[in-house]
Amino acid sequence: MKVTVVGAGNVGATVAECVARKDMVGEVVLIDIVEGLPQGKALDIQESAPIHDFDTRVVGTNDYKDTAGSDICVITAGSPRKPGMSRDDLLTINTKIVRSVTEQFIPTSPNAIIIVVSNPLDLMTYVAYMASGFPSKRVMGMAGVLDTARYRAFIAMELGVSVRDIRALLMGGHGDDMVPLPRYTSVGGIPVTELIASERLDAIVQRTKTGGGELVKLMGTSAWYAPGAAAAEMVEAIVKNSGRVIPAAVWLTGQYGLDGLFIGAPARLGSGGVEEVVQVDLNADEMALLNESAEHVRANVAALERLESA
Ligand code: LAC
Repeated sequence: MKVTVVGAGNVGATVAECVARKDMVGEVVLIDIVEGLPQGKALDIQESAPIHDFDTRVVGTNDYKDTAGSDICVITAGSPRKPGMSRDDLLTINTKIVRSVTEQFIPTSPNAIIIVVSNPLDLMTYVAYMASGFPSKRVMGMAGVLDTARYRAFIAMELGVSVRDIRALLMGGHGDDMVPLPRYTSVGGIPVTELIASERLDAIVQRTKTGGGELVKLMGTSAWYAPGAAAAEMVEAIVKNSGRVIPAAVWLTGQYGLDGLFIGAPARLGSGGVEEVVQVDLNADEMALLNESAEHVRANVAALERLESA
């Protein structure tokens, strides 16, 4: 199989490295408009193969013809956040970039599955969906794997337990109003609500929601290790047709009372892309939070439409 990663910045290079290290595909192509950057990062990753023990070929390029015949495309291209910026501040610039790279990618890989990582995430997934004309099951956004990873990491730190035993569900958009769901979070099968007092759990939920911003503040730019690893985990679920159930930005058609937008929900991933949007019961409080987050995503779609018609 062949995986293209668009954008050779920190996130894109980390996706390429994580996918290569999983040693599960024949080729990873890293593409960027900056000359030398994708070639250099790809070669550097390739030179780590004897140490990490993988056979995946890693190619860097500036030319979309090298991406032909890709099975999966991860789009990381776009501007990252700087301190003081929200993900929404990237709307105008990243819409142009995501649309353009999608249009350049699809002609020679018409059957690929697209995973969007660029921000504002839910809207950029919609932009790639519209620009590709692909069926909705072949377009999704990476956010839930990252956001639940942060949430699980914080719970593990709080309890001093292994992150491996923490299972969690998180829904909504990839913004500060994302919806971690403590009722669907467990530690070794034990509901987390029985192990962490509600005020502490609230603080962990809050830290999760602003987890991206916490890192932007520390580093002056947005994160890449966990985002890159998270996108690679989605690639793996598709490559292996594993049927993993993980939260992703998916196109909803009435599930959770939401219709016609990309937003985070639990999805079963396989070789066809989003094989199923899994439905769980949400109580009134959880639904209210999800609706609030959906309103935010819809406001971004409306802002995009205003921009386009101006
Ligand atoms: C973050 C960026 C990738 O949450 O949105 O770190």
